[in-house]
Amino acid sequence: MSKKILVLPGDGIGPEIVAEAVKVLDCLRQDHGLDAELAHGLIGGAAYDACGKPLPDETLRTALESDAVLLGAVGGPAYDALDRPLRPERGLLAIRSEMALFGNLRPAILYPQLAEASALKPEVVSGLDIMIVRELTGGLYFGEPRGIRTLDNGERQGYNTLAYTESEIERIGRLAFETARRRDKRLCSVDKANVLEVTELWREIMTRLAGEYPDVELSHMYVDNAAMQLVRAPKQFDVLVTENMFGDILSDCAAMLTGSIGMLPSASLDRNGRGMYEPIHGSAPDIAGQGVANPLATILSVAMMLRHSLGEPALADRVQAAVGAVLDQCLRTADIHTPDTRRVGTVEMGDAVVAALRAA
Ligand code: IPM
Ligand code: MG
Repeated sequence: MSKKILVLPGDGIGPEIVAEAVKVLDCLRQDHGLDAELAHGLIGGAAYDACGKPLPDETLRTALESDAVLLGAVGGPAYDALDRPLRPERGLLAIRSEMALFGNLRPAILYPQLAEASALKPEVVSGLDIMIVRELTGGLYFGEPRGIRTLDNGERQGYNTLAYTESEIERIGRLAFETARRRDKRLCSVDKANVLEVTELWREIMTRLAGEYPDVELSHMYVDNAAMQLVRAPKQFDVLVTENMFGDILSDCAAMLTGSIGMLPSASLDRNGRGMYEPIHGSAPDIAGQGVANPLATILSVAMMLRHSLGEPALADRVQAAVGAVLDQCLRTADIHTPDTRRVGTVEMGDAVVAALRAA
Protein backbone atom coordinates (compact mmCIF):
# COMPACT_ATOMS: atom_id res chain seq x y z
CA MET A 1 0.00 0.00 0.00
CA SER A 2 1.18 3.48 -0.82
CA LYS A 3 2.74 5.32 2.15
CA LYS A 4 1.64 8.82 3.05
CA ILE A 5 4.23 11.51 3.74
CA LEU A 6 3.29 14.97 4.97
CA VAL A 7 5.82 17.67 4.07
CA LEU A 8 5.99 20.73 6.36
CA PRO A 9 8.64 23.20 5.17
CA GLY A 10 8.08 25.74 7.97
CA ASP A 11 10.15 28.91 8.28
CA GLY A 12 13.52 30.47 7.52
CA ILE A 13 15.69 28.08 5.48
CA GLY A 14 13.03 25.35 5.96
CA PRO A 15 11.42 25.71 2.50
CA GLU A 16 14.82 25.74 0.73
CA ILE A 17 16.22 22.62 2.37
CA VAL A 18 12.94 20.71 2.24
CA ALA A 19 12.67 21.38 -1.51
CA GLU A 20 15.95 19.48 -1.99
CA ALA A 21 14.78 16.59 0.19
CA VAL A 22 11.57 16.42 -1.84
CA LYS A 23 13.66 16.11 -5.02
CA VAL A 24 15.32 13.10 -3.43
CA LEU A 25 11.93 11.58 -2.55
CA ASP A 26 10.69 12.23 -6.10
CA CYS A 27 13.76 10.53 -7.54
CA LEU A 28 13.18 7.49 -5.29
CA ARG A 29 9.55 7.36 -6.42
CA GLN A 30 10.42 7.63 -10.11
CA ASP A 31 13.52 5.48 -10.34
CA HIS A 32 13.72 3.28 -7.27
CA GLY A 33 10.19 2.00 -6.73
CA LEU A 34 9.29 3.98 -3.62
CA ASP A 35 5.50 3.80 -3.33
CA ALA A 36 4.63 7.02 -1.50
CA GLU A 37 2.29 9.99 -1.84
CA LEU A 38 3.31 13.44 -0.69
CA ALA A 39 1.02 16.06 0.84
CA HIS A 40 2.13 19.55 1.86
CA GLY A 41 1.07 21.58 4.90
CA LEU A 42 1.80 24.59 7.05
CA ILE A 43 3.48 24.82 10.44
CA GLY A 44 5.22 27.46 12.55
CA GLY A 45 5.39 31.10 11.51
CA ALA A 46 4.25 30.25 7.98
CA ALA A 47 1.07 28.75 9.45
CA TYR A 48 0.60 31.72 11.78
CA ASP A 49 0.85 34.09 8.81
CA ALA A 50 -1.69 32.10 6.80
CA CYS A 51 -4.21 31.22 9.49
CA GLY A 52 -3.24 32.71 12.83
CA LYS A 53 -2.08 29.45 14.47
CA PRO A 54 1.35 27.76 14.54
CA LEU A 55 -0.27 24.30 14.21
CA PRO A 56 -3.46 24.46 12.11
CA ASP A 57 -6.04 21.71 12.72
CA GLU A 58 -5.71 20.55 9.14
CA THR A 59 -1.95 20.07 9.50
CA LEU A 60 -2.43 17.98 12.62
CA ARG A 61 -5.23 15.93 11.06
CA THR A 62 -3.15 15.18 7.98
CA ALA A 63 -0.12 14.36 10.13
CA LEU A 64 -2.13 11.86 12.16
CA GLU A 65 -3.26 10.16 8.93
CA SER A 66 0.30 9.99 7.55
CA ASP A 67 3.01 7.36 7.98
CA ALA A 68 5.68 10.02 8.28
CA VAL A 69 6.16 13.77 8.42
CA LEU A 70 9.13 15.62 6.93
CA LEU A 71 9.70 18.95 8.66
CA GLY A 72 12.12 21.76 7.78
CA ALA A 73 12.41 24.17 10.69
CA VAL A 74 10.27 26.68 12.56
CA GLY A 75 10.76 30.12 14.06
CA GLY A 76 12.21 33.50 13.24
CA PRO A 77 12.66 36.97 14.67
CA ALA A 78 9.38 38.18 13.15
CA TYR A 79 7.51 35.90 15.56
CA ASP A 80 9.50 36.38 18.77
CA ALA A 81 7.18 39.06 20.12
CA LEU A 82 3.99 36.99 19.69
CA ASP A 83 2.12 35.65 22.69
CA ARG A 84 3.75 32.41 23.72
CA PRO A 85 0.91 30.07 22.54
CA LEU A 86 1.11 31.61 19.05
CA ARG A 87 4.86 31.23 18.59
CA PRO A 88 6.20 28.89 15.92
CA GLU A 89 8.05 26.73 18.49
CA ARG A 90 4.72 25.96 20.15
CA GLY A 91 3.51 24.49 16.88
CA LEU A 92 6.50 22.16 16.82
CA LEU A 93 6.07 21.11 20.45
CA ALA A 94 2.34 20.58 19.88
CA ILE A 95 2.79 18.31 16.85
CA ARG A 96 5.43 16.26 18.73
CA SER A 97 3.05 15.90 21.66
CA GLU A 98 -0.17 15.28 19.65
CA MET A 99 1.54 12.62 17.54
CA ALA A 100 2.97 11.08 20.76
CA LEU A 101 6.51 11.24 19.34
CA PHE A 102 8.25 10.47 22.62
CA GLY A 103 11.45 9.00 21.18
CA ASN A 104 13.88 11.34 19.48
CA LEU A 105 16.89 9.74 17.79
CA ARG A 106 19.72 12.17 17.09
CA PRO A 107 22.77 10.55 15.53
CA ALA A 108 26.09 12.41 15.48
CA ILE A 109 28.33 10.87 12.85
CA LEU A 110 31.56 12.35 11.59
CA TYR A 111 31.92 11.78 7.88
CA PRO A 112 35.60 11.05 7.19
CA GLN A 113 35.48 13.64 4.39
CA LEU A 114 34.58 16.33 6.95
CA ALA A 115 37.19 15.64 9.65
CA GLU A 116 38.77 19.01 8.83
CA ALA A 117 35.51 20.88 9.47
CA SER A 118 35.30 19.86 13.15
CA ALA A 119 36.48 22.36 15.72
CA LEU A 120 38.06 19.45 17.61
CA LYS A 121 41.33 17.71 16.79
CA PRO A 122 40.92 14.95 14.18
CA GLU A 123 42.15 12.26 16.61
CA VAL A 124 39.40 13.21 19.10
CA VAL A 125 36.56 12.94 16.57
CA SER A 126 37.68 10.68 13.71
CA GLY A 127 35.32 7.72 13.39
CA LEU A 128 32.79 9.32 15.73
CA ASP A 129 29.39 7.59 15.65
CA ILE A 130 27.10 8.28 18.58
CA MET A 131 23.34 8.25 19.01
CA ILE A 132 21.50 10.51 21.41
CA VAL A 133 18.06 9.23 22.43
CA ARG A 134 16.22 12.28 23.70
CA GLU A 135 12.87 12.00 25.49
CA LEU A 136 10.65 14.38 23.52
CA THR A 137 7.15 14.71 24.96
CA GLY A 138 7.76 15.11 28.69
CA GLY A 139 10.12 16.67 31.18
CA LEU A 140 10.77 20.37 31.55
CA TYR A 141 9.28 21.28 28.17
CA PHE A 142 5.83 19.99 29.04
CA GLY A 143 5.67 19.83 32.86
CA GLU A 144 2.81 21.55 34.69
CA PRO A 145 2.48 23.87 36.49
CA ARG A 146 4.33 26.43 34.40
CA GLY A 147 4.08 30.15 33.87
CA ILE A 148 5.04 33.58 35.11
CA ARG A 149 3.24 34.64 38.29
CA THR A 150 3.29 37.62 40.60
CA LEU A 151 4.26 36.89 44.19
CA ASP A 152 2.74 38.52 47.28
CA ASN A 153 5.62 40.99 47.40
CA GLY A 154 4.79 42.13 43.86
CA GLU A 155 7.85 40.53 42.29
CA ARG A 156 7.27 38.31 39.24
CA GLN A 157 8.48 34.70 39.23
CA GLY A 158 8.91 32.39 36.26
CA TYR A 159 8.57 28.64 36.86
CA ASN A 160 8.51 25.31 35.05
CA THR A 161 8.21 21.74 36.27
CA LEU A 162 10.49 18.82 35.55
CA ALA A 163 8.37 15.70 36.04
CA TYR A 164 8.45 12.16 34.63
CA THR A 165 6.18 9.24 35.41
CA GLU A 166 7.62 5.74 35.67
CA SER A 167 5.92 4.70 32.44
CA GLU A 168 7.37 7.66 30.52
CA ILE A 169 10.86 6.76 31.72
CA GLU A 170 10.34 3.11 30.95
CA ARG A 171 9.20 3.66 27.34
CA ILE A 172 12.15 5.93 26.45
CA GLY A 173 14.44 3.51 28.29
CA ARG A 174 13.23 0.59 26.20
CA LEU A 175 13.74 2.53 22.96
CA ALA A 176 17.28 3.37 24.08
CA PHE A 177 18.15 -0.20 25.10
CA GLU A 178 16.75 -1.50 21.81
CA THR A 179 18.70 1.13 19.88
CA ALA A 180 21.91 0.16 21.72
CA ARG A 181 21.20 -3.51 21.01
CA ARG A 182 21.38 -2.79 17.26
CA ARG A 183 24.68 -0.88 17.67
CA ASP A 184 27.71 -1.35 19.92
CA LYS A 185 25.51 -2.41 22.89
CA ARG A 186 26.63 0.34 25.26
CA LEU A 187 24.08 2.72 26.78
CA CYS A 188 24.89 5.72 28.95
CA SER A 189 21.92 7.20 30.83
CA VAL A 190 22.43 10.90 31.52
CA ASP A 191 20.80 12.46 34.59
CA LYS A 192 21.32 14.81 37.51
CA ALA A 193 20.50 12.26 40.19
CA ASN A 194 22.79 13.95 42.72
CA VAL A 195 20.39 16.91 42.85
CA LEU A 196 17.04 16.16 41.15
CA GLU A 197 14.60 13.59 42.58
CA VAL A 198 12.99 13.16 39.16
CA THR A 199 16.24 11.84 37.75
CA GLU A 200 16.81 9.68 40.83
CA LEU A 201 13.67 7.85 39.68
CA TRP A 202 15.01 7.96 36.09
CA ARG A 203 18.22 6.24 37.22
CA GLU A 204 16.33 3.63 39.25
CA ILE A 205 14.14 2.67 36.28
CA MET A 206 17.03 2.54 33.80
CA THR A 207 18.87 0.24 36.22
CA ARG A 208 15.83 -2.02 36.54
CA LEU A 209 15.39 -2.21 32.76
CA ALA A 210 19.03 -3.22 32.37
CA GLY A 211 18.05 -6.60 33.85
CA GLU A 212 15.93 -7.24 30.74
CA TYR A 213 18.75 -6.31 28.36
CA PRO A 214 21.72 -8.27 29.69
CA ASP A 215 23.52 -7.93 26.36
CA VAL A 216 23.62 -4.12 26.74
CA GLU A 217 26.12 -2.52 29.11
CA LEU A 218 24.43 0.32 31.04
CA SER A 219 26.31 3.20 32.65
CA HIS A 220 25.13 6.45 34.26
CA MET A 221 26.57 9.94 34.01
CA TYR A 222 25.61 13.35 35.40
CA VAL A 223 24.61 15.78 32.70
CA ASP A 224 27.32 18.34 33.45
CA ASN A 225 29.98 15.66 33.19
CA ALA A 226 28.35 14.32 30.00
CA ALA A 227 28.65 17.78 28.40
CA MET A 228 32.32 17.84 29.32
CA GLN A 229 33.00 14.26 28.18
CA LEU A 230 31.31 14.92 24.83
CA VAL A 231 33.94 17.54 24.09
CA ARG A 232 36.86 15.81 25.85
CA ALA A 233 36.51 12.22 24.62
CA PRO A 234 33.30 11.77 22.61
CA LYS A 235 34.24 8.36 21.20
CA GLN A 236 33.71 6.77 24.64
CA PHE A 237 29.94 6.92 23.89
CA ASP A 238 27.75 4.64 21.82
CA VAL A 239 24.14 5.50 22.80
CA LEU A 240 23.11 8.21 25.29
CA VAL A 241 19.59 8.46 26.71
CA THR A 242 18.32 11.52 28.50
CA GLU A 243 15.57 13.93 29.52
CA ASN A 244 14.03 16.34 26.98
CA MET A 245 15.95 19.53 27.77
CA PHE A 246 19.23 17.80 28.63
CA GLY A 247 18.92 16.10 25.24
CA ASP A 248 18.23 19.39 23.47
CA ILE A 249 21.45 20.82 24.84
CA LEU A 250 23.67 17.76 24.51
CA SER A 251 22.55 17.10 20.94
CA ASP A 252 23.65 20.57 19.79
CA CYS A 253 26.96 19.97 21.52
CA ALA A 254 27.35 16.56 19.85
CA ALA A 255 26.42 18.11 16.51
CA MET A 256 29.37 20.46 16.56
CA LEU A 257 31.76 17.55 17.03
CA THR A 258 30.87 16.55 13.51
CA GLY A 259 31.86 19.85 11.98
CA SER A 260 28.46 21.22 11.19
CA ILE A 261 25.01 21.11 12.65
CA GLY A 262 23.98 21.29 8.98
CA MET A 263 24.76 17.58 8.57
CA LEU A 264 22.62 16.03 11.29
CA PRO A 265 19.19 14.47 10.83
CA SER A 266 16.74 13.30 13.47
CA ALA A 267 13.81 10.96 13.87
CA SER A 268 10.99 11.43 16.36
CA LEU A 269 9.05 8.23 16.81
CA ASP A 270 5.81 7.09 18.39
CA ARG A 271 5.41 3.58 19.76
CA ASN A 272 4.25 2.20 16.39
CA GLY A 273 7.07 3.50 14.23
CA ARG A 274 5.23 6.48 12.84
CA GLY A 275 7.55 9.42 12.90
CA MET A 276 8.48 12.96 12.14
CA TYR A 277 11.85 13.62 10.52
CA GLU A 278 13.71 16.90 10.73
CA PRO A 279 17.21 18.31 10.61
CA ILE A 280 18.34 19.19 14.11
CA HIS A 281 19.46 22.68 13.10
CA GLY A 282 16.97 25.51 13.30
CA SER A 283 15.46 27.91 10.80
CA ALA A 284 18.69 29.98 10.48
CA PRO A 285 16.92 33.27 9.68
CA ASP A 286 20.29 34.96 9.11
CA ILE A 287 20.88 32.96 5.90
CA ALA A 288 17.27 32.31 4.83
CA GLY A 289 16.47 33.03 1.20
CA GLN A 290 20.12 33.19 0.14
CA GLY A 291 20.33 29.68 -1.31
CA VAL A 292 23.37 28.80 0.80
CA ALA A 293 21.91 26.51 3.49
CA ASN A 294 23.09 22.91 3.70
CA PRO A 295 20.26 20.54 2.67
CA LEU A 296 22.13 17.37 3.69
CA ALA A 297 20.67 17.11 7.21
CA THR A 298 17.18 17.17 5.69
CA ILE A 299 18.15 14.66 2.99
CA LEU A 300 19.65 12.41 5.68
CA SER A 301 16.36 12.82 7.59
CA VAL A 302 14.68 11.27 4.54
CA ALA A 303 17.06 8.33 4.93
CA MET A 304 15.99 7.94 8.57
CA MET A 305 12.34 8.10 7.45
CA LEU A 306 12.90 5.34 4.90
CA ARG A 307 14.50 3.20 7.60
CA HIS A 308 12.22 3.80 10.58
CA SER A 309 8.75 4.57 9.16
CA LEU A 310 8.60 3.40 5.54
CA GLY A 311 10.20 -0.04 5.86
CA GLU A 312 12.75 0.72 3.10
CA PRO A 313 16.19 0.16 4.65
CA ALA A 314 17.83 -0.54 1.27
CA LEU A 315 16.65 2.84 -0.05
CA ALA A 316 17.89 4.47 3.17
CA ASP A 317 21.34 2.98 2.49
CA ARG A 318 21.22 4.36 -1.07
CA VAL A 319 20.44 7.89 0.11
CA GLN A 320 23.24 7.75 2.66
CA ALA A 321 25.63 6.45 0.01
CA ALA A 322 24.60 9.28 -2.33
CA VAL A 323 25.41 11.83 0.38
CA GLY A 324 28.79 10.14 0.85
CA ALA A 325 29.34 10.33 -2.91
CA VAL A 326 28.77 14.10 -3.09
CA LEU A 327 31.13 14.61 -0.18
CA ASP A 328 33.69 12.48 -2.07
CA GLN A 329 33.20 14.82 -5.02
CA CYS A 330 34.37 17.59 -2.64
CA LEU A 331 31.13 19.54 -2.95
CA ARG A 332 30.53 21.65 0.17
CA THR A 333 27.96 24.21 1.28
CA ALA A 334 29.31 27.25 3.15
CA ASP A 335 29.00 25.64 6.61
CA ILE A 336 31.35 22.74 5.74
CA HIS A 337 33.50 24.46 3.16
CA THR A 338 37.30 24.23 3.50
CA PRO A 339 39.86 25.80 1.12
CA ASP A 340 40.53 22.68 -0.98
CA THR A 341 36.84 21.91 -1.66
CA ARG A 342 34.25 23.35 -4.04
CA ARG A 343 31.63 25.62 -2.53
CA VAL A 344 28.07 25.05 -3.76
CA GLY A 345 24.63 26.39 -2.91
CA THR A 346 21.57 24.58 -1.58
CA VAL A 347 20.10 23.67 -4.99
CA GLU A 348 23.38 22.50 -6.48
CA MET A 349 23.95 20.27 -3.46
CA GLY A 350 20.47 18.75 -3.76
CA ASP A 351 20.94 18.20 -7.51
CA ALA A 352 24.26 16.48 -6.86
CA VAL A 353 22.64 14.04 -4.41
CA VAL A 354 19.92 13.24 -6.94
CA ALA A 355 22.57 12.74 -9.65
CA ALA A 356 24.48 10.39 -7.34
CA LEU A 357 21.28 8.44 -6.66
CA ARG A 358 20.62 8.13 -10.40
CA ALA A 359 24.19 6.99 -11.03
CA ALA A 360 24.04 4.28 -8.35
C1 IPM B 1 15.27 21.17 18.66
C2 IPM B 1 14.92 22.64 18.76
C3 IPM B 1 13.54 22.77 19.40
C4 IPM B 1 13.64 22.14 20.78
C5 IPM B 1 13.00 24.20 19.47
C6 IPM B 1 12.94 24.84 18.11
C7 IPM B 1 11.67 24.27 20.15
O1 IPM B 1 15.91 23.31 19.47
O2 IPM B 1 14.52 20.43 18.00
O3 IPM B 1 16.29 20.78 19.23
O4 IPM B 1 14.08 22.80 21.74
O5 IPM B 1 13.26 20.98 20.91
MG1 MG C 1 17.62 22.13 19.94
